[in-house]
Amino acid sequence: MSGTMIPDPISELADLQPPHDPYALYARLRDSSPVCWSDRIGSWVLTRYEDCLAVLRDPASFASDWRRIGENTPEPLLSIQSLDPPEHTGIRRLLVDAVRAIDYSGLAKAVTAEVGRRLANLSRRESFDYVTEFAAPLALKTITTVLGCPPIDPDWFFPLSQRIVDGMDAGIWPETDEPAVSARAELADVTGTWLSRRCSEGLIGYVTAAAATSGVARPVLLNSLRAVLHAGFESAGRLLGIGFAALLAEPDGMAKLATSAPGLAMEEIVRFAAPVQADGRACVAQRRLGGQLIAAGDPVTIMFGAANRDPARFAAPDVLDFTRRPNPHLGFGRGAHSCLGQPLAILQARIVFTTIAVEYPRARTVREPVYRRNLTLRGISSHEASLH
Ligand code: HEM
Repeated sequence: MSGTMIPDPISELADLQPPHDPYALYARLRDSSPVCWSDRIGSWVLTRYEDCLAVLRDPASFASDWRRIGENTPEPLLSIQSLDPPEHTGIRRLLVDAVRAIDYSGLAKAVTAEVGRRLANLSRRESFDYVTEFAAPLALKTITTVLGCPPIDPDWFFPLSQRIVDGMDAGIWPETDEPAVSARAELADVTGTWLSRRCSEGLIGYVTAAAATSGVARPVLLNSLRAVLHAGFESAGRLLGIGFAALLAEPDGMAKLATSAPGLAMEEIVRFAAPVQADGRACVAQRRLGGQLIAAGDPVTIMFGAANRDPARFAAPDVLDFTRRPNPHLGFGRGAHSCLGQPLAILQARIVFTTIAVEYPRARTVREPVYRRNLTLRGISSHEASLH
């Protein structure tokens, strides 16, 4: 495929200065060139809700498994995220069953206790870093509890995990690729021991018991558990970070949340925050999107964050509206590869945000949040806040 869009939409995104807020640019792209080609990443870029949804709903034409357009996927990357049916079906079913089998009321109690304890400690201080001292350690604790794996050293894991996230933008910043590959290998050394250690708790316990009869290849199983750890930590942790910043930026945000229906409020925070901003598919059969012909073999980038602010789908899309209903956002994707951790991420976010809104209604920003430059996973590296 070739294209002549100038300037390149992805280069424009990459060049945004701190706080790297992409939403004004998304709005311009949606209006002027909703399906446009980026030479920078060699992909179509979709910013309208309708086009993003069409791709997510059509896995026969738009592959998650890039081997379907002749690309090579190294074995460490073969996982639930990178396979299509029929190989995707077995691992997806196994992990969906494992997520369904979670004791949600037990988990809610454990997370509530953990959140209460951490916030009580932090409330003794004038201010603290909400991301590094609260959201990130909490997200790691939650996902390791859910997985039932041995504890993971945060000082080792946090920078390693960030290298993997940086590598998701390697199409833009190629120098991030090699550090991400080595970080994934380092992480695999740890997660690769999980099944042999015979962890009997949580998702790993469930999967270990069911693995023999599931027919899922062992490397796919291990890579997928590693993906659950990484996605469960990064996406859910980033949701806590951006969601908190959005609540504090909103006039009376905490008070509005305290009096809102938590289910609707959490969906709205996911729509608004969209920590997973983008994902890719490979077109396997020629299709037309937004008037453009997408050829077989062309990569397509779905911009979830842009779709979630599309005024053609959401009234007043830049307003955080806890009464929004329906709210068919794409923050968790849609279709065959939609987010597996959705109920877990919502549970954790609900407990964190409602606890702060009810118990610490005077929570405030002390120093403006610092957004990372990452474009695939949006997130905040630090946010000095006070609970008083
Ligand atoms: C405990 C937390 C989480 C876990 C364990 C988790 C896990 C996963 C996994 C394993 C997939 C791949 C599913 C597949 O390919 O069949 C996935 C997809 C996805 N997740 Fe999550 N996730 C979590 C939290 C989140 C959060 C907080 C968000 C955003 C708000 C999110 C957004 C997404 C999106 C957009 C996809 C779809 C990607 C695509 O279409 O290719 N996830 N998640």
